[in-house]
Amino acid sequence: MDKIIVEGGRQLKGTVRISGAKNAALPILTSSLLCDGSCTYSNVPMLRDIRSIQQLLEHLGAVIEVENHTVRIHTGGLNQHEAPYDLVRKMRASILVLGPILARMKRARVSLPGGCAIGARPINLHLKGLSLLGATIGIAHGYVEAEADQLTGAEIYLDTATVTGTENLMMAAVLAEGTTILRNAAREPEIVALADVLRQMGAIIQGDGTSVVTIDGVSELQPVSVSIIPDRIETGTFMVASALTDGDITIVGCQPEHLGASINKLRQTGARVDVTDDTIRVYGTKDIISVDVQTLPYPGFPTDMQAQFMALMSVANGQSIITETIFENRFIHVSELKRMGADITISGNTALVRGVPNLSGAPVMATDLRASASLILAGMVAHGETHISRVYHLDRGYEGIENKFRNLGAAIRREPE
Ligand code: EPU
Repeated sequence: MDKIIVEGGRQLKGTVRISGAKNAALPILTSSLLCDGSCTYSNVPMLRDIRSIQQLLEHLGAVIEVENHTVRIHTGGLNQHEAPYDLVRKMRASILVLGPILARMKRARVSLPGGCAIGARPINLHLKGLSLLGATIGIAHGYVEAEADQLTGAEIYLDTATVTGTENLMMAAVLAEGTTILRNAAREPEIVALADVLRQMGAIIQGDGTSVVTIDGVSELQPVSVSIIPDRIETGTFMVASALTDGDITIVGCQPEHLGASINKLRQTGARVDVTDDTIRVYGTKDIISVDVQTLPYPGFPTDMQAQFMALMSVANGQSIITETIFENRFIHVSELKRMGADITISGNTALVRGVPNLSGAPVMATDLRASASLILAGMVAHGETHISRVYHLDRGYEGIENKFRNLGAAIRREPE
C-alpha cells in the first residue's frame, strides 16, 4: 500500500477542477440495472469505490466499458441476482444493488455489509421499506434474501432520513405497481441527481430534494446518457485547504448551491468566499476564528466535512465545539490530530477543539475516507513532514488528490509504504 507525505508550510494558490461526485455516481451507476440496454455515464470519478461497484455490476452480468471518465453499462445480459460477500465487504454502498436487483429480477440475495469504522450503520430501514413494498425479506447465512413477484407502491416513513436507504427505495419503487410515498426522505443533492436520472429513464418521481418523495411506478425504464454532478465534499475539502493555508484557491466545475452550510461556516472563520454559478474562490486568513459546528442531514453541515473542518479548527484562535449527530463514531481523526499537536477533548458526540498556534508533522493513519482527508489538510500546516498511511481510504473517494494539491503548490508526494 502507498503512503502520502506532506510537508507543511506552503500557501496553496491556483485553480482546481472538481471531479464527479462519488456518492452520486454510485447509486446512478447502480440504476442501470433497472433497464435493459446500454447506459452511458460521463464525468464519472475514477475511484476505488467506482471500481468496486463496477466489479459488482459485472458479477451480475453487466458488460462495462470505461474510457476516460465515461462509463458504458450494458445490462441486456443480467444473469445473477446475488451480490457476494467478497464484493460487498469492500464497500458498504454495495447495498444499493438490493432495490434495483429486486425490482428487475424479482429476487435478490445481497451480502450484509460488514462493520464500519464510523458507526454501526444498520440497513434496517432499507429492509423495512422493501417489505412495505411487498417483498418477502429474510436474513440467512449473512445474506439478505428478498423476493417479490411484483412490488406494489406503499407509504413508507423512514425513522431516520437515510441517504442510501432513500436511494434504494426510490430505485425499487420506480418499477412497483402504484404509488409510493417516502416520508422523512433524505434531501441530499445526490438524491435529486439520482431522481433526475431515473426521470430521464422514464420514471415518474416528484418531491426529491424535499422530505416527501412520491413515485408513481411504471412498467419499464429506458437506457440513458447522463453526466454525474460535481462532488460537493471534494469541493468543500479544497475550500478548507485554502482557508487553512492562508491560500487563494479557485475551485471550478463545482456546484456552490450544494455547499451552503460549508460556505457559511467558512465565512464565519474569517475566510473570504466568492461564489459564482459554478466556481468558488476562497481567500484564507492567518487569523482563523473558532466557530462551533454541528453535523446534520442536508441542508445542514455535512458529516462528510466534519473531519476536514476540525483540522481547520485545530489551528484557529479560540475554542470550537464540534458535534457529530449522524454517525456515532466519526471522530477517528481526533487521536491522529492530537498526535500532531492538536488540543482536542472528546465527550460523547462532541469534540472541544482548543486552537493551537502550530501542528507538527507526524506519522498518522486513519480508517475512514474523510478522516484521512483531514490528516492531509492538517499536514499542510504542520511543521515538518506528515506521513499518512493507508492511502487506500483516500483513493476510495478523492480522484488524484495529491496531483490536485501539488498543482496548487503543496509539497505532497506518494510513496510505496
Ligand atoms: N441508519 C439507520 N438505519 C438504516 C440506514 C441508516 O439507522 O437502515 C442510520 C445510520 O446508522 C446513520 C444515519 O442513519 O446514523 C444516516 O446514515 P445514512 O444511511 O444516511 O448514510 P449512508 O447512506 O450509509 C451516505 C454516504 C456517506 C455519508 C452519509 C451521510 C453514500 C454512498 N454514502 O451514507 O458518505 O456520510 O450518507 O450523509 O452516499 C463518505 O462519502 O465518506 C460517506 C461515508
